[in-house]
Order: sequence, then structure tokens, then C-alpha cells
Amino acid sequence: MTLRQAQGPQGNPQGSPNEIATAAATDLAVRAVGVGKIFPTTGARTDSNSVIALAGVELEVGAGEFVSLIGPSGCGKSTLLRLIADLDQASSGTLEIFGKPARRARIDQDYGIAFQQSGLLPWRTVAANISLPLELHGTSRSERTARVAELAELVGLSDFVDRYPDQLSGGMQQRVAIARALATRPRLLLMDEPFGALDEMTREYLQSELTRITAETGAAVVFVTHSIPEAVFLSDRVVVMSPRPGRITDVITTELGDERGESLREAREYFERVTAVREALHAGPIVRANER
Ligand SMILES: Nc1ncnc2c1ncn2[C@@H]1O[C@H](COP(=O)(O)OP(=O)(O)O)[C@@H](O)[C@H]1O
Ligand SMILES: [Mg+2]
Repeated sequence: MTLRQAQGPQGNPQGSPNEIATAAATDLAVRAVGVGKIFPTTGARTDSNSVIALAGVELEVGAGEFVSLIGPSGCGKSTLLRLIADLDQASSGTLEIFGKPARRARIDQDYGIAFQQSGLLPWRTVAANISLPLELHGTSRSERTARVAELAELVGLSDFVDRYPDQLSGGMQQRVAIARALATRPRLLLMDEPFGALDEMTREYLQSELTRITAETGAAVVFVTHSIPEAVFLSDRVVVMSPRPGRITDVITTELGDERGESLREAREYFERVTAVREALHAGPIVRANER
């Protein structure tokens, strides 16, 4: 049970009526309380050489909300995402995904993941790649066929289901990865710089596609990016992080509405939010953590 399940005026006072209705109906997608992560340096005899990757992270992501994590290289964005995905364990604090421990949420396939590298299996066709989580889930063949067709349509790849990954552009490969991440209808998508390796035009196109896809599926998203315009264009809230130790220094609510068309990229409010995020980023110490 969370506060957001309460109906009426007890809901998030800052949210629009729409957001309140959505948040009231379901659990928080992510709830991090005092989350810290320390990586002990290999062979170190004392704690002094350890890397404090995250300290005191407090984060709530509402159901259906799009939240970006932005910050300089080494500030712990990927680490936080990996903790949410149960790919690693926090050193302190608590982390809940839809009210469950991260491990339980992983077993229940409550979220889908997409990384910078699409991670497609080269010997499988587009259809067979999208189908993989459904096979692991024990979904019947006929259901898989229907769902793969639906997902291919969702990401605009219906004509390419019989191709192999090396016959696709980088942008198309990422679309397959997104379809695969959505296969089991997760209520949460975790994305770590999924468009980081793409050219600017493709990147902007896929950003628009992603806003459409998440609007259609209603999934919450935690999205890691280095790009300020990308974070602002996509997000309901932009979470600004700083390194040493990695922590949240600011949260900017974009309030740009649900319609994220191309014209938004030229809108005054959009530029204002880009400036606000840039200033929040630069307010922190300008240091780059050593990449280990
Ligand atoms: N497996 C690991 N072992 C030791 N240090 C790590 C490990 N993973 C990340 N780090 C360190 O933790 C910090 C945060 O890393 P990361 O989350 O990858 O940052 P970001 O994704 O923001 O660039 C960095 O200093 C990085 O070197
Ligand atoms: Mg990273």
C-alpha cells in the first residue's frame, strides 16, 4: 500500500488530475529509500580505496511516469539502473519495484530492459528475437505469434520480422530491442542510453517513437542518458545526479504535457527546461569520476 493509492485530495498535490487518477490506481513503479552502493576495490585492505558509487538515493517513480537520470560520466546512473533491475545489490537502503523487492520483481518479469547495445541474438530473426522473453515465460506458440506481430507493428517493423539483426540499421535494431523489452507487457521499462550509439536524426526519430510507444503501453520508464535535450523531450521528470559520491542533486519537472510532437523541439517551454536542466547540472562540482 502506498500513499498514492489513496483517492482524492490525498493524491500527489503537484500532479495534474490525470496523474493523480493514474497514480491512485496503482503502486509506485520504483521506490528507493536511502539507497547506497559501495564497490570495494579489489585487493584493498581498507575501505578508503572503495568507490562510493551511490549515496542516500531517494527516488519515487510513479506508475506510467517517464523519469530520466542524467549526470556526468561515472555519477552512478548505470549503477542505479542495475540495482533497480536486480543485476547488482545495494549496499544500503531499500529498493522496491511495484512494492516488491527487486529480486521478486525480476522473477515476476515486472520490467523490461534495453541497453545501448541492442543485445540481439544474431542467429535469430527479428520475430524470434522479440519472441525470446515469451519463450522463457512459457507462452504458447500461437500466443507468441500473435504477440510478436502486435509488437512488430508497435515498433514499426512489421515488414522486417523475417530479417536477421545484421540486415537492419542500428535504429531498427534498437526498435527490436524495445519490442523485446515490452514482450511480456511489463509495467516498467529500464533503459540505459538506448539511443547513445545512433546518429542525431535517428535518435530524434526514436525519441518520438518511444513517447508514442510508452503512451500506448502505459509503462513507466527509467531512462539513463547523457543528453539534456533527450532527457527533456522524453521525460515527466529529469533527475540530475552528481558524482563522488553519486547522488541526486536536483529533480526537474518538465510539465510539457502528454503530446510530444516534433514541434515541441522548437517550443519556448522546451528550451526553458533544457536550460533549467543544464543549470542544475552545472551547479554541481565539475569533476569527472575516473572510469575504472
Ligand atoms: N563493477 C564495478 N566495480 C567497481 N567500480 C564500479 C563498478 N561499476 C561501476 N563502478 C564505479 O562506480 C561509479 C559509477 O559508475 P556508473 O554507474 O557506471 O556511472 P555512469 O553510468 O553514471 O557513467 C564509477 O566510479 C565507476 O567506476
Ligand atoms: Mg553508464
